[in-house]
Amino acid sequence: MKDTSQSLPPGSFGLPIVGETIQFLFDSEYVDKREKQYGSISKTNILGRKTVFMSGAEANKFILSSHMDYFSWGKGWPDNFKEILGRSLFLQDGEEHKRNRKLLMPAFHGQALANYVTTMEEIISKYLQKWVVKKKLTWFPEIKQMTFEIASVLLLGSPPEDKTKLLSQWFTELTNGLFAIFPIRASWTKYGKALAARDRLLKYIDEQIEKRLSNPGKDALGLMLQTTDEDGDRLSREEIKLQALLLLFAGHETTTSMLTFLCMALAQHPEVLAKAKAEQQELALEGDLSLEKLKQMTYLDRVLKEVERLYPPIGGGFRGVIKPFVFKGYYVPEGWIVSYRINSSHQDSNVFTNPKQFDPDRFSDERAEHKKTEYSLVGFGGGPRFCLGYAFAQIEMKIFASLVLRNCAWEILPNQNLTPDRIPSLHPRSGLKVKLVNSNC
Ligand code: HEM
Repeated sequence: MKDTSQSLPPGSFGLPIVGETIQFLFDSEYVDKREKQYGSISKTNILGRKTVFMSGAEANKFILSSHMDYFSWGKGWPDNFKEILGRSLFLQDGEEHKRNRKLLMPAFHGQALANYVTTMEEIISKYLQKWVVKKKLTWFPEIKQMTFEIASVLLLGSPPEDKTKLLSQWFTELTNGLFAIFPIRASWTKYGKALAARDRLLKYIDEQIEKRLSNPGKDALGLMLQTTDEDGDRLSREEIKLQALLLLFAGHETTTSMLTFLCMALAQHPEVLAKAKAEQQELALEGDLSLEKLKQMTYLDRVLKEVERLYPPIGGGFRGVIKPFVFKGYYVPEGWIVSYRINSSHQDSNVFTNPKQFDPDRFSDERAEHKKTEYSLVGFGGGPRFCLGYAFAQIEMKIFASLVLRNCAWEILPNQNLTPDRIPSLHPRSGLKVKLVNSNC
């Protein structure tokens, strides 16, 4: 496979042991800077592993689709993720992954989604009313509580308010452990606290399963308990516990991030805000929202795509290399890690005109910049392992946006830092402090 003309990608491994982990975790421009220095493929050492960053649509297609059998998801995620999130979909490969994705699918498609709309609308309206009374608030943590409540009610069927605050606190502890640089197992370390929080969450999920065995219901947990494949195979109780934990994790951190940047971008671009509000008025929405009504919000679709492009909640995906390969003339050995870079792919000026500019109309039918190059817009991943919760996230984000656009006006408060921070999920550093007024008053 390797011949003398093929060298390893350019780059540097940084310091002994820690490599460039600190820069990767805490400098949100680290990957961009490397790309400027070394180009779209470069090597480094992060999270204790030799890693190759690959950026751009061609690299995305190579990793996500055309050469996906050269890579393993399970081997790609850092060890902290593997231990905390256990054997759930993120960490599975091959037949095991295929079987489980198929068994989880019914909870994220078709009629199941239609059943979620009313609950989402009720919870979002409740938070909106609370915020309008508060007037001044920091939106990121508030939205996080809201998306967590939606995820826990729809994924676990917990009654609203009941335990949501406590579960959300356990979840924050769990998430903090995912990025702990030194995974020391002690009750006082971030990592130790994350493992304890994971155990408490798994116990809680198990109690919910116990209650549901005789009457599963129509939420995601109910569907997971009932779904069988063509051979009558179904997920075991242990499997459901781990998959539900993963879905709670995957299902609210990312959505929180995108919604926060949506609110920020709309306030910063009054012309886009005006068009989005006009669309809501033209639709003359009355009564409860439905999937049909959400589908008609086509300008909102473009705005959400532009938020996905400029502020992707996940900066990139990791894979373990299980077969050595050559890409753009560089050799990448087996056992290394590759990371396809979502954020830098979205900044490619060969694909997106003025990529730094917030311009939802780049996704209009006439321009459709993302359709000219496959795998250029990958905020939700791509290929056979495209985000399982894409449709769930889209309806949640559209219901939120529709209610906020129809009922609220907001201003970003001065003296705050809106630079995006990456950990635990992409958010404006000051959390987006706003003054909210009810425009319907
Ligand atoms: C704005 C919201 C969301 C964003 C930006 C997002 C992004 C992503 C991305 C980038 C991937 C692929 C990662 C990779 O290739 O390494 C992914 C996979 C996944 N997402 Fe999402 N996600 C969102 C919402 C959700 C929701 C709401 C759920 C579930 C409730 C979910 C569940 C999953 C699962 C289970 C996978 C793994 C799929 C597989 O391996 O087959 N996501 N997501």
